[in-house]
Amino acid sequence: MCGIVGYIGGKDAYPILIKGLKRLEYRGYDSAGVALLNGSLNVYKKKGKVNDLVDFIDDSNVKGSLGIGHTRWATHGVPDDINAHPHLSGSERLVIIHNGIIENYAPIKLWLQTQGHEFKSETDTEVLVHLIEKMQKDGDLLIEEAVRLALSKVVGAYAIVVIDRMDPDKMVAARKSSPLVVGIGEDEFFIASDATPIVEYTNQVVYLDDNEIAVLSRKEGLKVLNMENEIKTPLVHEVDMKIEAIEKGGYDYFMHKEIYEQPKTIDDCMRGRLNAQEGWARLGGLEQYKKRICNADRIIIVACGTSWHAGLIAEYLIEDLARIPVEVEYASEFRYRNPIISERDVVLAISQSGETADTLAALELAKKHGALTYGICNVVGSSIARITDAGSYIHAGPEIGVASTKAFTGQVTLLSLMALVIAHERGTISTSRYQELITELGQIPRKVEEALTCDERVREVSERVKNATNALYLGRGYNFPVALEGALKLKEISYIHAEGYPAAEMKHGPIALIDENMPVIVIATNQSAHEKIVSNVQEVKARKGRVIAIVNKGDNIMKDIADMVIEIPSTLEPFTPLISVIPMQLLSYHIAVMRECNVDQPRNLAKSVTVE
Ligand code: G6P
Repeated sequence: MCGIVGYIGGKDAYPILIKGLKRLEYRGYDSAGVALLNGSLNVYKKKGKVNDLVDFIDDSNVKGSLGIGHTRWATHGVPDDINAHPHLSGSERLVIIHNGIIENYAPIKLWLQTQGHEFKSETDTEVLVHLIEKMQKDGDLLIEEAVRLALSKVVGAYAIVVIDRMDPDKMVAARKSSPLVVGIGEDEFFIASDATPIVEYTNQVVYLDDNEIAVLSRKEGLKVLNMENEIKTPLVHEVDMKIEAIEKGGYDYFMHKEIYEQPKTIDDCMRGRLNAQEGWARLGGLEQYKKRICNADRIIIVACGTSWHAGLIAEYLIEDLARIPVEVEYASEFRYRNPIISERDVVLAISQSGETADTLAALELAKKHGALTYGICNVVGSSIARITDAGSYIHAGPEIGVASTKAFTGQVTLLSLMALVIAHERGTISTSRYQELITELGQIPRKVEEALTCDERVREVSERVKNATNALYLGRGYNFPVALEGALKLKEISYIHAEGYPAAEMKHGPIALIDENMPVIVIATNQSAHEKIVSNVQEVKARKGRVIAIVNKGDNIMKDIADMVIEIPSTLEPFTPLISVIPMQLLSYHIAVMRECNVDQPRNLAKSVTVE
């Protein structure tokens, strides 16, 4: 969380920083700020979104070809102008932006106060910049040396960029557990939390590793050091990201665009991995460890949020098809409960961003116990992708809307492929079933496209339920996690309280809440449990609940019982989540728009959660 961007070169930094901050706004939008160096050091910061900052700056002096910018997701200190980044040091010689948390900031602050330092904000970041200045002054050090010394005293997670007014030809960055990407242009450097602010200018990037410090200098180029002051050779990667992928392209919101991209992103995820004509599926990332994975005692899935829901679907897929026991864990719980992990376990981390702090920490724990770790990420070059033994990208392209949509279907597609590959290798499904599933998976992009034609119908339904204060989502089997995901989507972006439940469990509690004001969204597309779901719907109707049923095309039974029906194409049961989640996404989207909520930037949330 928090977005960081910096520029040093020959161009005006300000427009680059503002454009970059807008691209990074998904990481936090409590406040924004920039610092520009041009003889004098000008700092502007404002509570609210990047546009509020731009209005605030208006026609102030924004000259300078060296600058840094920040968009904040508040941790220490309320979101206001004072706590907004950048933060100046006591003498106003240094300025810093920071993503992450300095855990031991309190004792450092106390010590600095005894040394006469005064603080303006409540942030841990201001403490860090004062500490850097103290080190610099006491030792008469270059800025990079002061940064290195100060960081050796702090505990926590950080990505920082620092400018020294007295050393105007460089900026210094450092990372530990928070991402930073350096962009290398011609006689210019960029630095950012991800590549989206950079790709417009250069496709040459260096991903900083933990405990690395980068010095971006006009005179000396790029220098990377570790905490022991040893020079590291930076590995330059080429990023393949198209500008269209990070713009709205005619849609009002990124979320709507991303929902509509799904036929393509699912296809991209399967490209080269599934051939329906020839009847095979394979996963390059799995090859090297295929035996170990196929013979694992257990697959433990660690994830958070929507990715955790994809993990729950994987539990159904892998146990059903490949017959390996699966446990799905919230990464944050797993890491703190002294879990039993053996060398015969495989720990699978699912993460869109590849940066979620708890998922990363869970993986580190798994590695310590000797388990094989496998990452399923979207962001190329992300921390999870880099620390795992093996892994596969979902290739969904940048997901900007905070509520995850195309990454979820990408994850479920990848996990479906994985289950098929393992099942085939282990011989737990017959050849004809394997072929049948492969053929059907190949049809999914087309079926998702067809499912998207329910958009108008979902809008009508949304109109009828938009004023609800609570909603219940029910599903069984493969569609129980989809019910959870539907409820999460509604909570996240329209602020309506919603719960997902296994349909049969409803009788053990939530049924007490049902009345004529409570919309109950029932996913009824599983063939195997259809009669049971019909009975659950009857139970809701008997209590005057308003039922919205998601059904397969031509399901006349449900049409007669439910109040509102949304039809989607049918598919084989293991793949039903990929289709049934489409109306869930659209329903939350339309309701949020109707309630005038900020769909892409819901309050209090951030897309990339790099703090625990
Ligand atoms: C945040 C986002 C969610 C996401 C979760 C896990 O809470 O708002 O959309 O599902 O983090 O993120 P990850 O990047 O690990 O999938």
